[in-house]
Formats: sequence, structure tokens, C-alpha cells
Amino acid sequence: MDDVLMNAEIWVKSLFADDATGHDWHHTDRVRRNALEIARQEGADGFICELAALLHDAGDEKFHESEEVGKDFVIKWLEQQQLPRETMLHVIEVIDTVSFKGGFNRPPEQIEGKVVQDADRLDALGAIGIARCFMFAGNKGDAMHIPNQKPREEMTKEDYRHGKSTAINHFYEKLLTLTTQMKTETGLKMAKDRHDFLKLYLVEFHDEWNGKK
Ligand code: ADP
Ligand code: NI
Repeated sequence: MDDVLMNAEIWVKSLFADDATGHDWHHTDRVRRNALEIARQEGADGFICELAALLHDAGDEKFHESEEVGKDFVIKWLEQQQLPRETMLHVIEVIDTVSFKGGFNRPPEQIEGKVVQDADRLDALGAIGIARCFMFAGNKGDAMHIPNQKPREEMTKEDYRHGKSTAINHFYEKLLTLTTQMKTETGLKMAKDRHDFLKLYLVEFHDEWNGKK
């Protein structure tokens, strides 16, 4: 089992070595650490959570031609590991339900899915979440802020992924909505300070932008 975790770490490090979208190896590593802490407090399976956290972005549709291609990519890797079939299926199920996808994804039913989803979302909040948001927006070609462009209220999955937005609007369209959607008590507790930090940051941002400082 330890070998599989080590192999996963090596594989994912190589996949995300050149990432500039906020999904570099350190993102995965932080999600793994958060997942282990939440799993411990929630009594979830630590091995499943750790492995799913390590693999959670490897097959993400953002980095592949389609959702199916991404999923197959991870399944092929898992099939090469010495894992009981049941464990492998459990990990695949967790990964499948982690992604946000504009809120259109099937929600996790098992505790391990809830743990890894919360762990991933924590990394979209707080100081690191802000840094990742600006990295992602810059990489996508979105502006930092356009004052007369209002946050979108209704979005299709396609709009969420490919529509034009701004880094600041992403706070309102997604980041500030995450905390109330946390799936575990532990995740919710961990999210609160990070959520407050986003709000504080926005006040400062708008004050500076509007010359109130
Ligand atoms: P998931 O992988 O769970 O579906 P996303 O890919 O939507 O989640 O988000 C991953 C990270 O990229 C998060 O930190 C998120 O805030 C950021 N991100 C996603 N879309 C945008 C966007 N349009 N503008 C800025 N940041 C974004
Ligand atoms: Ni992630």
C-alpha cells in the first residue's frame, strides 16, 4: 500500500511539474495533507483519502480532451498498481465526485469523497486560494478586474469552464459559495478563517481600486 502512495506521488509530480494554473504538485500535496487531517477527525479511511487526494487532479477534464479520456488515464495507472479491486473502485468513485465543475458534478456519497472534496476546496480559499485564483485567471486570459462587469448569477457548465470572467468575479461566482457547501464538520471549521480572509481581501481590494486609501 505504501508503494502505491509513493508511486502516485512520483507520477503526479511529473504530470504537474510545469503547471502554471494553480494546480502544481504543491496543490496536490496540500490537498493530501488537508485530506489526512480531515480523515483523522472524521474517522474516514486514511489510505483511500490519501491516494484519492494524490490522484484527484490527474484525470481532471481541464487537462484532457474530455472527461472520459481523463478518467481512463487514471484508471489505466491504477490498474498497474497492486491494489485490491474493491480499493481501486473506491478510489475511482472518490475522484469522480471531487471536482467542482461549476457545481454540476454529482455530489460525493461516501465519507472519503466528502473528505477529499473538502480538502480540495480548502485550497481554493484563504491566501493560497486567492493566489491560485489569479494564477488561473491569468493563465486563462481573463482580466484581474473589470468594474462594470457583474458576476454571473446563472451559469451552464460550459459557461463556468470557458466563459469570460475576471479573477475578482470568480470570488463571487465560486469561492465565496464554497464554505456553505463543505461536506464535513471538520472541513467547515477549517474553511471559516479562510472564508473570512477572502472577504477581508475583497474589501481592501475595492478600497484601493476606488481610491479610498
Ligand atoms: P475543480 O477542479 O474542483 O472543478 P476548478 O477547476 O473549478 O475546480 O478550480 C480549481 C482552482 O482554479 C480553484 O482554486 C479555482 O478557484 C480556480 N479557478 C477555476 N476557474 C477559475 C476562473 N474562471 N477564474 C479564476 N480561478 C479559477
Ligand atoms: Ni484540486
